[in-house]
Amino acid sequence: MTNVTPFRNVKHASMLWASPDRAEEIAALHAKLFSPAWDAAAIQSFLEHPAATSLIAVAGGQKKTVIGFLIGQLAADEAEILSIGVSPDWQRVGLATGLLEGLTRAARRGDAKRIFLEVAEDNTAGLALYRKLGFTEAGRRKRYYERPGSAAVDALTLVLDLDLPNQAG
Ligand SMILES: CC(C)(COP(=O)(O)OP(=O)(O)OC[C@H]1O[C@@H](n2cnc3c(N)ncnc32)[C@H](O)[C@@H]1OP(=O)(O)O)[C@@H](O)C(=O)NCCC(=O)NCCS
Repeated sequence: MTNVTPFRNVKHASMLWASPDRAEEIAALHAKLFSPAWDAAAIQSFLEHPAATSLIAVAGGQKKTVIGFLIGQLAADEAEILSIGVSPDWQRVGLATGLLEGLTRAARRGDAKRIFLEVAEDNTAGLALYRKLGFTEAGRRKRYYERPGSAAVDALTLVLDLDLPNQAG
């Protein structure tokens, strides 16, 4: 067993499609994880987009709280992850993996061939997660992410080729 408390076990979380009425909750979590954060209106418009393929992880009692999100799009033969995050209290129990597997299944059902995303080169957690799930580097945008007080950081474009066997989902 790991040092994860029973409550923060992935078995106590559920994955749901993200409906636009969860935008406020997703924005509140986004603001804990990203700077600059996306506001609720921006997230709502992503979730209302016809190509939206977004998931949330929820946990708790009757009023379930959003503890993770994946904002994605699926169009033609490509899916894209626009943002993914997990509440700090719930990290390292497999939630991001579950959200990515959910998107991968949806992408396969939609006959997508690839999933793309962008990640800052200094995001060690994100890079470790994506590499573990089989994403590989497909490009680089120089100095894409501003870092107040320090040098801008490159963005890496990663791709998961769904035609290859043994990929997530
Ligand atoms: C990146 C993030 C989404 C990972 O979520 P998570 O639910 O903790 O990820 P998982 O539990 O599914 O981790 C799966 C694997 O990813 C890797 N990983 C995840 N977090 C890691 C970390 N902090 N350091 C190193 N590896 C990490 C590990 O290989 C892990 O497997 P393991 O726990 O068996 O070692 C989460 O840390 C987060 O929300 N970060 C802030 C927002 C962010 O950076 N999002 C990505 C932007 S592109």
